[in-house]
Amino acid sequence: MSTLHPARTITVGPTGPHEWNAAAQAYTAALPHDPISGDELRKRNEEQRAWGHHAGVLVARQAGEVIGSASYFQDPGAFHPQRFTLELAVHPDHQGHGAGAALWQALDGQLRALNAESARILAREDHPVAPGFLARRGFTGDKRYFTSALRLDTFDPRPYEALEQRLKALGVHVRSLSELRAAGTPDLTGRLHGLMSEVRQDVPRAEPATPLARQVFEEAVLGDPGLLPGAYLVAEHGGAFIAQTALYHSEASPDLLTGLTGVTRPWRGRGVATLLKVAAARAGQALGAPLIRTDNASDNAPMLAVNDRLGFVRDPASVSHLVRFT
Ligand SMILES: CC(C)(COP(=O)(O)OP(=O)(O)OC[C@H]1O[C@@H](n2cnc3c(N)ncnc32)[C@H](O)[C@@H]1OP(=O)(O)O)[C@@H](O)C(=O)NCCC(=O)NCCS
Repeated sequence: MSTLHPARTITVGPTGPHEWNAAAQAYTAALPHDPISGDELRKRNEEQRAWGHHAGVLVARQAGEVIGSASYFQDPGAFHPQRFTLELAVHPDHQGHGAGAALWQALDGQLRALNAESARILAREDHPVAPGFLARRGFTGDKRYFTSALRLDTFDPRPYEALEQRLKALGVHVRSLSELRAAGTPDLTGRLHGLMSEVRQDVPRAEPATPLARQVFEEAVLGDPGLLPGAYLVAEHGGAFIAQTALYHSEASPDLLTGLTGVTRPWRGRGVATLLKVAAARAGQALGAPLIRTDNASDNAPMLAVNDRLGFVRDPASVSHLVRFT
């Protein structure tokens, strides 16, 4: 005789057409520093498939209710045909009843069927269950990241006025994507793609960077419905784009999320990243947002120093865990 009441049986399968919101809600409730909405989750999945990547989202259901989700996809910025990025979470109200184990079992089967070589997943090192859950399933942790948040109600940009004046005197100006569009900047998309391609080369990451295709840049960066054109900021000098930062919003949270901040090599060490991040914080304040969130590799000393000085408060580290299937 089964000890399980039938109503408690957990099943796992592909996300149904009406389950995207519930899948995203379970994930966001478990990992509030990484919010995502149902539309955003579905868009990411469709986009991945349109690029020819392997991608899917599984849900765990109990008594007809979605209680957890697991995603697999392929990082377009560090692409390898047999390597995957994973996300897995169970709604906090339903943890500890076997949903996480069932999701992993299904995901593992799916990835093996795709002839996966390896996969990576992030887990907070202070989570009471996740690091052990992953270790028992063959994952090992390596690269560390910090998510951090800046409160905008107390952020004071005034101490940075001298820096702003100094860089202005050098001819460095900050322009938003909205301003660049309104000015009819020629070949704007090509130049923004060029800038991002240049600055992303030196971002520390767990897997080697691969070129960012123009189509991926247009669809996943400029085409992200959460992109805030007034807070996608470029530093310009003599007509050249020398640095960038960007803020996004998610339908799942009032907080703003940071895209890539980067400065071209000749301009590093002169305060340009700070200038841009202060301008982004001002833009966030103008939007009335409560927080800006960001995440950085723990060995990205210059970016962490900039963020610490601005008042970003670090969360406990998130660790990238690697599993090999071969
Ligand atoms: C990690 C997580 C997915 C596990 O999901 P879950 O449904 O609670 O886990 P299960 O009930 O299926 O149990 C899975 C394992 O965790 C153990 N576990 C579950 N809850 C536990 C608890 N409160 N204390 C100790 N161990 C626990 C189980 O004993 C089981 O052990 P096993 O590895 O020997 O099989 C869930 O805690 C979660 O969503 N965490 C936040 C999201 C996250 O960090 N994701 C990234 C890493 S997966």
